[in-house]
Amino acid sequence: MAESVGERLGRIVGDRHVLSGEDIPEHYRVDVLGKFSGRPAWVAKPGGTGEVAAIVRLAREEHLPVTVIGGQSGTAGGAVPSDGGLGLSLERMNRIVEIDTLSMTMTVEAGCILQLAQEAAEEQGAFLPLDLGSRGSAVIGGVIGTNAGGNRVVRWGMMRDMVIGLEAVLADGTVVSSLTKMLKDNAGYHWKHLLIGSEGTLGIVTKAVLRLRPLPTTRQTALIATDSFEQMIAVLRRLEVSLSGQLSSFELMWDDFYRLHTEAQLGQRPRPMPCGHAIYALVEAMGGNEELDAELFTGALAQLMEEGLVTDAVIAQSARERDALWAVREDLQPGLAPLRPFVAYDVSMAIADMPAFVASARKALLEAWPEATVMFYGHAGDGNLHAVVSIGRMDEEVQRGFDEAVFGAVREVGGSISAEHGVGVERAPYLGWTRSESELALMRTLKRAIDPDGILNPGKLLGVV
Ligand code: LAC
Ligand code: ZN
Repeated sequence: MAESVGERLGRIVGDRHVLSGEDIPEHYRVDVLGKFSGRPAWVAKPGGTGEVAAIVRLAREEHLPVTVIGGQSGTAGGAVPSDGGLGLSLERMNRIVEIDTLSMTMTVEAGCILQLAQEAAEEQGAFLPLDLGSRGSAVIGGVIGTNAGGNRVVRWGMMRDMVIGLEAVLADGTVVSSLTKMLKDNAGYHWKHLLIGSEGTLGIVTKAVLRLRPLPTTRQTALIATDSFEQMIAVLRRLEVSLSGQLSSFELMWDDFYRLHTEAQLGQRPRPMPCGHAIYALVEAMGGNEELDAELFTGALAQLMEEGLVTDAVIAQSARERDALWAVREDLQPGLAPLRPFVAYDVSMAIADMPAFVASARKALLEAWPEATVMFYGHAGDGNLHAVVSIGRMDEEVQRGFDEAVFGAVREVGGSISAEHGVGVERAPYLGWTRSESELALMRTLKRAIDPDGILNPGKLLGVV
């Protein structure tokens, strides 16, 4: 009798690393917001790249969709397995293979949790700058798959800027590997860039060589407020110079965001400064001079206050105070829980276009739903804004209405529907709103060439190809 798919998977990874049907726990099937779910027939947990390749060859023979399940901190449904398909969890492939403090690189398997990679680098006196709220669950492969950004992009760039070498399994089971530590390599196509941000639709990332930096020894953090968005951007540009390159985070919060979250957090911590300012920013600088950096930071902010550009500022005096300031921006559960179900967006645009986008999106949303809660915040230095929208209920029509209001406003300013969370299933129907026909055609051509049978994460990003 022919072997079943489950038996063949068991032969590749070991029976105890295969789950099937009803035995598959929810966290392999449902995304973090509980919005997207799938019913995969199997979840397999390979222990190495060779096993991933063997699984992909099997999937190709059986025409099975393959989706890599990461930390499930994505919000667009990109890592939710297809019904009847095969989910791959790389949780056993979580090793830090090497940290090279001379070349300043880290070689890491795709299933390693971001925070563990950060901590391992720190233990060696090195720094993996990529940082985001879901650092404790997001895995390196997922962060590469979405080209994640987070809160230090303004200084060190996105994941794309940190991936030096890559190893991946293609749709025919071929392992492509360039686990180099070279920063510069201009010999031919940079195929790694095609895979970074492709949400598992072009290949399965199994390992990466990441760029590290020397670990900064000082960290200054402040919450500041200005009377207008334009003034806040002027402050950003000034600090980029006056902090001598140390500016590492510049996280914007509109008053609607600040008011709601600090109110919801009152049980845990006092509001660091009053509501009612037009706009707030969490500002952080990282440097290497313990004697001078604090003075540089307070001096730069004092100068901006004297000039009237900054209207209020709170500077953290201890690690505890710093954590409390970051919590205003990152401890979003107390504020978001009562808004469920909500929709969160991660759009982008030129910084100069942000006020027009915010005004137009807010107007469109409030005209249609005067009772809506609408909040804006984001990584403004990177042109990346988040919007959270809620009317306390959700159905297809409401979702479509929100999407059309937000993406319509994005399109008006020539922006993008996704800056860091990816397209997944949620945004696939809107890709054409901010990408041209010729761009979409090129994307489809690439997908068909690299994954001709369409087994890699089908239905995500491009929708049905
Ligand atoms: C943030 C997530 C939503 O920046 O990207 O809070
Ligand atoms: Zn973000």
